[in-house]
Amino acid sequence: MGVAFLDLEATISDCNPAFAGMVNAAGRGQVMGQPLAERIAREDRLDLANALSRVVMGGAPAAHLEVRLNTPRERAASVFISPTGENGDVSGLVLHFIDATDQRSLELQFAQAQKMQAMGQLAGGVAHDFNNLLTAMIGFCDLLLQRHGAGDPSFADIMQIKQNANRAANLVRQLLAFSRRQPLQPRMLDATEALAELLHLLRRLLGETIELRLFHGRDLGLIRVDPGQFDQVIINLAVNARDAMPGGGTLSIRTGTATFDTPTQCGPEIIPDGDYVMIEVSDTGTGISKEDIGRIFEPFFSTKQGGAGTGLGLSTVYGIVRQTDGFIVVDSALGEGATFTIYLPRYEIDQTLETSGRIPPPLPGAWPPP
Ligand SMILES: Nc1ncnc2c1ncn2[C@@H]1O[C@H](COP(=O)(O)OP(=O)(O)OP(=O)(O)O)[C@@H](O)[C@H]1O
Ligand SMILES: [Mg+2]
Repeated sequence: MGVAFLDLEATISDCNPAFAGMVNAAGRGQVMGQPLAERIAREDRLDLANALSRVVMGGAPAAHLEVRLNTPRERAASVFISPTGENGDVSGLVLHFIDATDQRSLELQFAQAQKMQAMGQLAGGVAHDFNNLLTAMIGFCDLLLQRHGAGDPSFADIMQIKQNANRAANLVRQLLAFSRRQPLQPRMLDATEALAELLHLLRRLLGETIELRLFHGRDLGLIRVDPGQFDQVIINLAVNARDAMPGGGTLSIRTGTATFDTPTQCGPEIIPDGDYVMIEVSDTGTGISKEDIGRIFEPFFSTKQGGAGTGLGLSTVYGIVRQTDGFIVVDSALGEGATFTIYLPRYEIDQTLETSGRIPPPLPGAWPPP
């Protein structure tokens, strides 16, 4: 527990080594004689100052609040403030700091996971109903088109209706992907090969100002995904990266393996222990602000101006990855590019198949081998 003594100007007059450690100071000497405010995150300074003056003025016998500390990796602390002095004369304050970083990040992660689940349910329900309505609309358009053929004055209008209904159906499909309610046709794939096949398309998507670098990990093993959906995931991430690098830059796609011996916390998700194939897509673009990073996987969240983005790209990616029993995490800061890392369960290439150099055919239920 960190302990700090303050004088009436809120300057640290003394503290224990634990407090110095908490605020990332090299030693007690570095914090003593300094204003406490400097050690507290800017956003929380006012709250803390108010609490301190309440105790000094005798408005409250003691106070408790949560603050964020002004450290490179933001830490949270629970602070208990009590007065020092004799016979009711307050001569200073003593503050006890308890590190609440882990607890706080757990709370945030739990809330985030719950939010995504609730959104998935909501989006899935809406998308499902819309899907039925659109299927009926498209069906009736087809009936009308039979009666009003190409020479009919209404033909063009009915075609317009049908095209728009089809476009809406596409959006709905993306929502269904997010809520993990779409039918998938998973197959065993070699991620390296799948990426190599996409290379040509990706180069064209990215244009000339963006350099594409591919780093293939060795002995990747196989992943079990719907190949079309896998492509969609990579393309969505690449397009976002391109949009984040209007002045050009580098997009790197790296593959590798990861093994977790115990369930591992990654962003808001807990990844079960096991073997994973890792696909990392990172760019040198604008990066994502701290306020936005918790929302980017939400459907319809977009920072692109004037309807340039539907905000469904990443929610589709999220849905596909989760439906494939995989996980996606993002690491980014404003101005520092963004890295999306996907973990998909890894399957061993069976020895006999390996020697014949062939990847098993898509026999549902026949893989992984018993
Ligand atoms: N690589 C990235 N770098 C910076 N910001 C990103 C990156 N990828 C996503 N974002 C942010 O996440 C938001 C949501 O992305 P998402 O793909 O879901 O929607 P969108 O790209 O805005 O719209 P659409 O995918 O329909 O074009 C983006 O608007 C952008 O703010
Ligand atoms: Mg997008």
